[in-house]
Amino acid sequence: MLVLNTRKKIEESLNVFWQDKKRIGFVPTMGYLHQGHMELVREAKKTSDLVIVSIFVNPAQFNQAEDFNNYPKSLEKDTAMLESEGVEILYIPDAEDFYPNEIPKIKIQLPGMMDYLCGATRPGHFDGVLLVLSKFFHIIKPSHCYMGLKDFQQYKIVKRFSEILNFPIQIIGIETVRESDGLAMSSRNARLNEKEREAANLIPRALKLAEKLIHEGESDLNSLLEILSDVMKSSSLLKIDYLEIVDPELLTPIAKIQNQMLVATAVFVGSIRLIDNIQISTEKG
Ligand code: PAJ
Repeated sequence: MLVLNTRKKIEESLNVFWQDKKRIGFVPTMGYLHQGHMELVREAKKTSDLVIVSIFVNPAQFNQAEDFNNYPKSLEKDTAMLESEGVEILYIPDAEDFYPNEIPKIKIQLPGMMDYLCGATRPGHFDGVLLVLSKFFHIIKPSHCYMGLKDFQQYKIVKRFSEILNFPIQIIGIETVRESDGLAMSSRNARLNEKEREAANLIPRALKLAEKLIHEGESDLNSLLEILSDVMKSSSLLKIDYLEIVDPELLTPIAKIQNQMLVATAVFVGSIRLIDNIQISTEKG
């Protein structure tokens, strides 16, 4: 596996793949890799001529310096994991090469899609995500980009954004990989203490309950939200940042039950903010 740090090196290595119009699969990450990330990598490996993974804790998308500074790192382990999956290129951008001078301040608005969920509670976050991914897309010119549905809003926004700006890239969404108790895998889980880790499984339990109640005929979304909120508040360690039921395409809240819904939440477990969601269909499958 080649480990590259600069745009120039990427260009030198990818040139023949671009010329031959090879299928280049790209998996952007912030490192501290777990099986959720690896599922994206495996899917990319299955379908690409060459897989390139990036590890970059992107300062532009953090709205809290503390979260950025404490973001966990494990470069050696990450490198070994990617190597064992047969990844061809690991791109660890040199911050100076990637953001020469300073981090550009760019505002990108997708009204509606960015107004709720993480868009409302983490102002500027998606501007930073779209900035870093636009740069990656131009530097790497992948044909496919693999993203996790755990970050459902991120996936939808990136997909819509690339369509609007005609990036010739297919954005592929991959199902959330979970721990055995249902907690969605996340690099931030490592920062939970034992009690917080145990309490955190109330998040997937509440989401599963939403699915069960809707399938059993619950149609009052407000009372459903109250039930879910009570489940999560049963631990004093959990503090809900948001809990909403939205249309999975528009990402705007819905008041009445519909065929396709997304229940999405962000919860502080102690001081660690975790997100999760579940897609619920009322159509018989
Ligand atoms: P990061 O949190 O490292 O996640 C990288 C990718 O892995 C994202 O597409 C995310 O949705 C996916 N992922 C994380 N946990 C997952 C899980 N349990 N199951 C399936 N997929 C999972 O998301 C980012 O980094 C950044 O915002 C980034 C896109 C790299 C831009 O900086």
